[in-house]
Amino acid sequence: MRFFIDTGSVAEVEEIAAWGILSGATTNPSLLAKEDGEPADIIRRICDLVGGPVSAEVVSDDAAGMVEEGRALAKLHEHVVVKVPFSNEGLAATKELSSQGLRVNMTLVFSANQALLTAQAGATYASCFMGRLDDISIDSSAVVEEIVATLRPGGTTTQVLAASIRHPEHVVTAARLGCEVATIPAKVFRQMLAHPLTEQGRERFKADWESRPEFVEWLRELVSKQPASA
Ligand code: E4P
Repeated sequence: MRFFIDTGSVAEVEEIAAWGILSGATTNPSLLAKEDGEPADIIRRICDLVGGPVSAEVVSDDAAGMVEEGRALAKLHEHVVVKVPFSNEGLAATKELSSQGLRVNMTLVFSANQALLTAQAGATYASCFMGRLDDISIDSSAVVEEIVATLRPGGTTTQVLAASIRHPEHVVTAARLGCEVATIPAKVFRQMLAHPLTEQGRERFKADWESRPEFVEWLRELVSKQPASA
């Protein structure tokens, strides 16, 4: 499963991209509305940082407006994927945009039927929102499982993108159930790093090594003898 970052913050993308594990990013109107600066500039900077697909969302309600906005957003950067909210109008816009060669991330997908329609319209990604399902006491893992199981036998190329990730367990569930992508907030990425045994283990290795000062010196010298890296 590939990792996208779910954010409108360039600083967060910079932080997590430095880990070397990001394949893309997703924004949405709510995330961008929280940020200072021009949306075009933010989207382009995120595209440059992740070097992969970055979803930018249309806000029109009708298909023609969505297509116009989607085409304009896609011109911002080669990595832009047009994000289209699920609806009958969204399906028509997705069909049109994908037939024009643009990639579409259909968002706000909450059921297997919606995912089937999304795939039929030619979307590259179907974004299933886990956290928002859990918020209304619908088991998000059951829905994601059904979506993956429903799309696969048809041989669709539409990728299941787990969104609205609220905690690290959502990430593991999405991977286990066969989602191709999870889009994850920076906070959850940071939580994914943590394990008390890792912290303890690192501290113990360091303390044991430093209990032998000659080893510390040996390693320092070994490093200093290396040719400068390009
Ligand atoms: C997906 O692309 C959305 O931006 C996002 O995951 C929504 O998450 P939320 O439910 O935490 O707002």
